[in-house]
Amino acid sequence: MVARVIPVERFDLVIFGASGDLARRKILPGLYRRWKEGQIPEGARIIGAARSDMTDAEFRTQVSDALKEFLEPAALVPEVVSGFLDILAYVRIDAKGEAGWEALAAIMRKDVVRAFYLSVAPALFGDIAQRLHQRGIADRASRIVVEKPFGKDLKTARALNAALAEYFNEDQIYRIDHYLGKETVQNLMAVRFANILFEPLWNAQFVDHVQITVAETVGVGGRGEYYDNSGAMRDMVQNHLMQLLCLIAMEPPHCFEPDAMRDEKLKVIRALDPLKPGEFVRGQYRGKGGDDYLTEAGNPDSRTESFIAMKLHVSNWRWKGTPFYLRTGKRMKSRVSEIAVTFKEPPHSIFGESNQWRENVLVIRLQPDEGMDLRVMIKEPGPGGMRLKDVALDMSFAEALGNDLDIPDAYERLIMDVIRGNQTLFMRGDEVEAAWAWVDPIIDGWEMRGDQPEAYEPGSTGPEGALMLMHKDGRRWREIR
Ligand code: BG6
Repeated sequence: MVARVIPVERFDLVIFGASGDLARRKILPGLYRRWKEGQIPEGARIIGAARSDMTDAEFRTQVSDALKEFLEPAALVPEVVSGFLDILAYVRIDAKGEAGWEALAAIMRKDVVRAFYLSVAPALFGDIAQRLHQRGIADRASRIVVEKPFGKDLKTARALNAALAEYFNEDQIYRIDHYLGKETVQNLMAVRFANILFEPLWNAQFVDHVQITVAETVGVGGRGEYYDNSGAMRDMVQNHLMQLLCLIAMEPPHCFEPDAMRDEKLKVIRALDPLKPGEFVRGQYRGKGGDDYLTEAGNPDSRTESFIAMKLHVSNWRWKGTPFYLRTGKRMKSRVSEIAVTFKEPPHSIFGESNQWRENVLVIRLQPDEGMDLRVMIKEPGPGGMRLKDVALDMSFAEALGNDLDIPDAYERLIMDVIRGNQTLFMRGDEVEAAWAWVDPIIDGWEMRGDQPEAYEPGSTGPEGALMLMHKDGRRWREIR
């Protein structure tokens, strides 16, 4: 069966911060890949806007270099690249001043979708929104896209929401959390709500606990200064991990529409119990030479966590008594993002004591090797009585759906959704604020107490304390291989 791809209207997409890292690494290569797939319609235009003085031709050369740097050589077909470069233009603009706005207003077309991607520091969101509005560049149908960090606490997030709300309605604002654009994250919705199998078991009566792991091998590298003011809680938990938690824990929305989905996610965040000391462990990688958090962060006294593990309670009818364990860290043993739902024991074993029961676990692998695996008990083949064994019903999407499966990057999907006007995979303002409202007191608490993160070896599975967090509940983390 050929998949139905929803067509995209003609558009003018303006990327503010077009020569920045995110635009070069993700946004422009992502747009190129959609262009190559024929998803970008004739007559669409991508307009780079940034502070530096550049001609259209110079901008095209810069983008061409970025494509070479960030895409596989096989993806770069010369005629396709040159067609893509032809739809690019550039405007030098001063986000806080007057330069460039008139020129931008002059080239924007009236009869196409207008989208503005703010790949710039959040401090500039308000200035840009204001100028887009005052110069008549944005109208009621325009869309504005913003990136994280969306604030560093509730107060700053509220200020950003207010700055945008002055000129744009909520249905025009697209707050990106790129985790929501990942293929398997959406598959989570399909697994839960397109199958009858799991949903009846998806509650505290049958689920023992849920684990969410996002482990990275990279350290903070060149982002030391940003990261040291942020830490794993703000950088990963407040957004990516909480979004995953919401998708796992939410009630079935009545349809797959933006507000139906976002209403249900919001209820999960609001149902979270405050986190108490003893329910989380913070860590910092401490190694030799440059492989050390303090060196990379350029702050010998830093108390910022590069790892955090926590035990959460969702206090509602469905989840009362089922803990959710979350962990994320940098410089860990391997790059693994997965969600594991561990089910409870059957109420009675007919096979006797000698057969050790192992839990049924549903694992949803986000990366690498996107897929799912379900651990079930079977009889070990052969004579000698009834011996049970747990095996994996393992499905790698690449194997199940064909080895040439080319899964789009999260950014590709999200940018196309902006053009289509579909906000389902974007965070609503109240969701972001609710997440900060939960996170803030936890951070305030450890800052007030002056908590020191626990050291862990670079390349390990995190600090000892994280293991203890599970052990004291008689559980263990899934292995990071
Ligand atoms: C970003 C964080 O939002 O997500 C980074 O700022 C992190 O610190 C990255 O490395 C992880 O994204 P992915 O898609 O590589 O898992």
